[in-house]
Amino acid sequence: MDWELFLTPYKQAVDELKIKLRGYREQYEKTAQHSPIEFVTGRVKPVPSILDKARRKNIPLSELDTKMQDLAGIRVMCQFVDDIKTVIDLIRNRTDLEVVEERDYITQKKESGYRSYHMVVRYPVQTIVGERKILVEIQIRTLAMNFWATIEHSLNYKYEGRIPKAIKDRLQRASEAAFLLDEEMSKIREEIQEAQKHFTYKKVEDLDIDPFQR
Ligand code: GTP
Ligand code: MG
Repeated sequence: MDWELFLTPYKQAVDELKIKLRGYREQYEKTAQHSPIEFVTGRVKPVPSILDKARRKNIPLSELDTKMQDLAGIRVMCQFVDDIKTVIDLIRNRTDLEVVEERDYITQKKESGYRSYHMVVRYPVQTIVGERKILVEIQIRTLAMNFWATIEHSLNYKYEGRIPKAIKDRLQRASEAAFLLDEEMSKIREEIQEAQKHFTYKKVEDLDIDPFQR
């Protein structure tokens, strides 16, 4: 299997969507409005992770393009929980993609303590042999949700999916704390936004430092 070739349209989709979604932020900034998007990252799933997941989930390599929905992945980070709804609507209203699935792990968090809003979209990429529609998984989450998920992911990696009970319990409490942090921030949202109107700051996104691995 020529992975380079197979993954090329996925890379194209990720690159294009990163630019397109980052474009929203710029528009909000230029119009002096609070941006519901803090930063955007994206990645193509690394080949070892693809093979690993295909084995785990019994997905034939010939059916990757339909059965593995996160070969192309985009993450949108927001300051406030309410911003997530705004981003969901922005994406639903786009005419250059089609939403095929939505999973709300915010109102219904996962057993691990994971919270995020997932959208799977079908996105057309123009290739040298014509248009190809690619599945892309978009994860939308607050900075607090992202902090938790990043830490939990590294622990999972370290313990190869078998996190000791004591640490699992800590993660549950940390997830609860992240939830409370989001709640507190929502309550002083107006204050924060007023303060942020007076300056713009460099977003970490431009460095692409959040390459997710799964
Ligand atoms: P996979 O979890 O990717 O095998 O597919 P799925 O069909 O179960 O989809 P789901 O929406 O549950 O998860 C998709 C992605 O969400 C994962 O690849 C992770 O990036 C993220 N995710 C889901 N659950 C967790 C979790 O408990 N912890 C962390 N850190 N990330 C998670
Ligand atoms: Mg899962």
